[in-house]
Amino acid sequence: MCGIVGYIGKKRAQPILLNCLSKLEYRGYDSCGIAVSNGSLQVYKDIGRVKALEKTLPFIKGMVGIGHTRWATHGEPSKINAHPHCDCTGRFAVVHNGTINNYHELREKLTAEGHTLVSQTDTEVIAHLIEKYYSGDFPGAVEMALHELEGVYTMIAIMAGEHRLVAARKDSPLVIGIGDRENYFASDVTALLDYTSRVIYLEDGDIAVITADSINIRNNGAGIDREEHKISWSVEDAQKSGYEHFLLKEIHEQPKVIRDTLSGYISAGEPAAELAGDGGSMDDMLILACGTSYHAGLVGKYIIEKLVDVPVRVEMADEFIYSGQAAAGSRAVVITQSGETLDALKAIKKLKETGCRVIAITNVVGSTVTRTADRTIYLRAGPEISVAATKTYMAQLIALYWLALPYAKVDIKKLDSLVTELRQLPVKVQQVLDNEAAVADCARQLAGYENVFFIGKGINYPVALEGALKLKEISYIHAEGYAAGELKHGPFALLGEKTPVVAIVAQDNTHEAIVTSIKEIKARRSPVLAIVSEGDETMTGLADMIVTVPRVDPLFSPVVNSVVVQLLSYFAAKERGCPIDFPRNLAKSVTVE
Ligand code: G6P
Repeated sequence: MCGIVGYIGKKRAQPILLNCLSKLEYRGYDSCGIAVSNGSLQVYKDIGRVKALEKTLPFIKGMVGIGHTRWATHGEPSKINAHPHCDCTGRFAVVHNGTINNYHELREKLTAEGHTLVSQTDTEVIAHLIEKYYSGDFPGAVEMALHELEGVYTMIAIMAGEHRLVAARKDSPLVIGIGDRENYFASDVTALLDYTSRVIYLEDGDIAVITADSINIRNNGAGIDREEHKISWSVEDAQKSGYEHFLLKEIHEQPKVIRDTLSGYISAGEPAAELAGDGGSMDDMLILACGTSYHAGLVGKYIIEKLVDVPVRVEMADEFIYSGQAAAGSRAVVITQSGETLDALKAIKKLKETGCRVIAITNVVGSTVTRTADRTIYLRAGPEISVAATKTYMAQLIALYWLALPYAKVDIKKLDSLVTELRQLPVKVQQVLDNEAAVADCARQLAGYENVFFIGKGINYPVALEGALKLKEISYIHAEGYAAGELKHGPFALLGEKTPVVAIVAQDNTHEAIVTSIKEIKARRSPVLAIVSEGDETMTGLADMIVTVPRVDPLFSPVVNSVVVQLLSYFAAKERGCPIDFPRNLAKSVTVE
């Protein structure tokens, strides 16, 4: 993970680097730092967030610099382990996103050669290797240093007094931002939205040298032209727009996200065609993903199995890498909002080695997954800044409905009514949001507990998993998601007055069974918060708290119910005073194993 930036141009680098870094904090935020060349290199770094570092900095004059915001892999978060890392002479500094597998050997070799390495990081070896190979040619020395590295090493290097930056991309993202007599490097386009909408996405193996008015990219020793792209995301998309947190803004954007994602598909025709077998039918399916995207995939399983009547297997990408099986020639869907999750990318590699065709679902144009999959279906969620995924998950659900509908084995009348309802989902989600105050009241009560169960059944079982994940990650309340019927097979031992249960009560064939489960739970005195559809009176007098959602076809119930569990987590976290957008130890884009 980690976010890296570089700037070279006619303006002072310091404020630009800090601003870009603040936009990249979703990638890691345990420490940060910058290095600016003003004749000599001025390097400032510390543990904590960019805002805190900013307050401690002097006025730095230079117009070329690099910056980093860290999610620790090698070595605890500390000032000494924070990037940039320098060589012995202080002439070279590097920022790095990735992990260098052979850093131990390199470190020992460098130490034997007289280099003094001061941090516990893998990154520091890069600066020393550049120093070792430098004999007047800065880009050449970087290239030679890179030849020694094994692993993931997207990095930017700066040299004191040089009016150019050198960067390399290897297995984690890097873009070049093109300005007017100024150029940028950044881990992703969100960092650059304040400055430019013109970008070049670098490819693996690219080494780029930028000056204020030139860009040179080489790959495998030869110069190469990479296409320039225009970013469609706006500056406002990446701002809080009056909301206290990005998370709340992003939850509230979901009606628009559903509309945008759907309208994108409607205008582009049927993205689902790719999934059809030769006879125009959908075969069995394998879905791979991690975290919240995995939960969207699980909902997808229920959607496809119910509508299309074919078996669907959903696996965690990180498990699939080691023990998964896919049939040669089959098709698989990989869901990753960031398009950069290493586990998902490794799963794709394995799928392709097996001869599978891979369809990716992602939110990020130009992300690595778009270049590794055979086909990409884009979500139109806009930039998601908060570390916890909400609106991208919603867009994933919509994409999965859209994928399944053309193959639905239902009569045309039912199909029409499902499509009509799909289009009405923004209105239904808005109704849930309009009921936010009631959800917030329940959340404030949940905030006082240390353990919470979420239960659901059928298509809402993954919503229970997602509710528990959201609550854990942003409020730090220990939560577990369970299929309602499973709770009695062990977890019942934990029920009681101090362990509330959030129950998703859907109006489908699971209704009676979940009501029974809730009665059993109440008999063990756990407080119950029931999420029920309008008009469902079964919880009155049984549940301690009730949140009502608008009625929708049961197939779409995860959409409205998910919004409730998102809001519950948000308001519980707020009540507990948690750093909602940037939970401890997490990062949005996980580019390490
Ligand atoms: C991280 C994030 C999660 C996300 C998961 C998968 O763990 O914190 O919010 O669900 O990665 O991310 P992806 O980009 O592959 O969907």
